[in-house]
Amino acid sequence: MSSRPLILYFGSFNPVHAGHIAVAEAALRHFGGEADLWFMLSARNPFKTEAEMWPDERRWALLQAALDGRAAMRACDWELHLPRPSYTVRTLEAVRAREGADRPLFLLMGEDNLPRFTQWRAYETILDWCRVLVYPRASADEPAEAAREAVPQLQASLSAYADRFILLRGVLYPQSSTAIRAQAAAADPVTPIMSATPIMSATPAAAATPAALIGHAPADWAQCLQWRGEKAQALREAARQVKLQTVGREVYLRGLIEYSNICRKNCYYCGIRAGNPAVARYTVTEAEVLAAVENAYRAGFGSIVLQSGERQDRDFIETVERLLKAAMRLSDGRLGITLSLGEQTLETYKRWREAGATRYLLRIETSNPTLYAQLHPADHRFADRLKALEALQAADYQVGSGVMIGLPGQTPEDLAADLAFFRDFGIDMVGMGPYIEHHETPLYARRHEIPTLAERYELSLNMLALLRLIMPTVNMAATTAMASLHPRGREEALRVAANVIMPNITPARYRGDYFLYENKLCICESERDAKDRIEALVQAAGGEIRYFEKGDPQHYFERLAPSDEP
Ligand code: 5AD
Ligand code: SF4
Repeated sequence: MSSRPLILYFGSFNPVHAGHIAVAEAALRHFGGEADLWFMLSARNPFKTEAEMWPDERRWALLQAALDGRAAMRACDWELHLPRPSYTVRTLEAVRAREGADRPLFLLMGEDNLPRFTQWRAYETILDWCRVLVYPRASADEPAEAAREAVPQLQASLSAYADRFILLRGVLYPQSSTAIRAQAAAADPVTPIMSATPIMSATPAAAATPAALIGHAPADWAQCLQWRGEKAQALREAARQVKLQTVGREVYLRGLIEYSNICRKNCYYCGIRAGNPAVARYTVTEAEVLAAVENAYRAGFGSIVLQSGERQDRDFIETVERLLKAAMRLSDGRLGITLSLGEQTLETYKRWREAGATRYLLRIETSNPTLYAQLHPADHRFADRLKALEALQAADYQVGSGVMIGLPGQTPEDLAADLAFFRDFGIDMVGMGPYIEHHETPLYARRHEIPTLAERYELSLNMLALLRLIMPTVNMAATTAMASLHPRGREEALRVAANVIMPNITPARYRGDYFLYENKLCICESERDAKDRIEALVQAAGGEIRYFEKGDPQHYFERLAPSDEP
């Protein structure tokens, strides 16, 4: 029987949301990750209406979906099957019967439960069997204060057990989404963001942005994008605050494998377009892909990204499927796998999803169909791109998209519309960066119509900042293209808004041939170099790399379970 600590987190999870996950992660951190945590779903109170409390099956399905791929976390539905009413002590009995009486148990609960704890059935037995991890349910203004006082304020009847209670620090969990909504509606422009963040909020994100700084409409955003100097700094600082309050300082690594530069398409901006005869075409061998995956997994990368030019032939589809299954096997299903393999049919997307991929990146490039038509040959249809993004959502991927910034013919209004597109479509992850010209592409002819490098850099940072304000819980990548424009480009992107970085882990001998645009970075750096540099870069940006963690976008879970309930 295991002697690994087991944390039990009881709740109705109606529905589960990012706040619950944050608390669970904090509890696991308390044990340095060396513990298991079970979400114990409580049965529906028959006296509550469905509006107040969702049916068991629905809450259970969402809980499972939210925990999918989180190695140390598990959903447990025993209370739905044990005799009613459910008493914690009875459930604990069942846990002890299965796990053995020696397994150290910890109850995870909010401080608001403490005053009534002595009314729980057989609470003394519970305290004999378990220690209690208490997390603060602090008011937004004084989290530190409330957290400090949570445990000392144990009632007299509990004080004999004071050593059974452990206070979890550094967890911010807003009281309820009702309170958050009230705050968001209030005039104070900044507080709502601070409190609305770790939890999923039914408040439209735009309503929770600092009204004083940016307006709610894309027309206002187009203005903000053009801010420079002090105003741009204020915009980026606001984004940084929101970032710290939502996704936090954490930065997730995705090891990028540029699997093949063979592409059947002919996008006018791209260096590896089919029509460029100067490209030496390659496909990384399966063995090499898996070796790179294994190295990345061992090195603590929570996820990898498999990216390539677009192919739809059977051989390609089957090879990718095989690679996915092998990658899942070698990581015991723990590795997050993102695909970036262009437009495919719903059937193919589903097939790869079943084989283990959970995320997909497919950039829209621009949300303006007219501009899209200028950037692509006639048979690359904007409508097909949209359809593919819809298919990805239908196949239950965490869906990423993005645009290029500073394209010929692109206006600030276009870019503002891109942000609105991400929001309205419900994109979970965004990778966007500057357009960089490539001399072997047709679009090079329009190089005089684009903003300067410095301008594209400023625009890109403003885009990232605005998006963080508009969609606080998406994952955003600090893209390679940012690094190609400015030596501190990725660092600045991370500091302001991004929370994901994608170090290139393509086997070195292929690197130079995935030449999308000029001055692309990471062509000649060695593995070790890359790792040290990424660490230094993240640190300089005030971030903290989360090794061995997938870092799924909170936005995805909110999209699955939009609700008003805390
Ligand atoms: N500049 C910047 N990004 C580019 N991409 C392709 N060509 C360029 C370029 N010249 C980006 C596109 C594509 C991704 C694989 O690379 O957004 O979706
Ligand atoms: Fe192919 Fe993608 Fe380049 Fe278009 S952008 S040519 S689809 S690799």
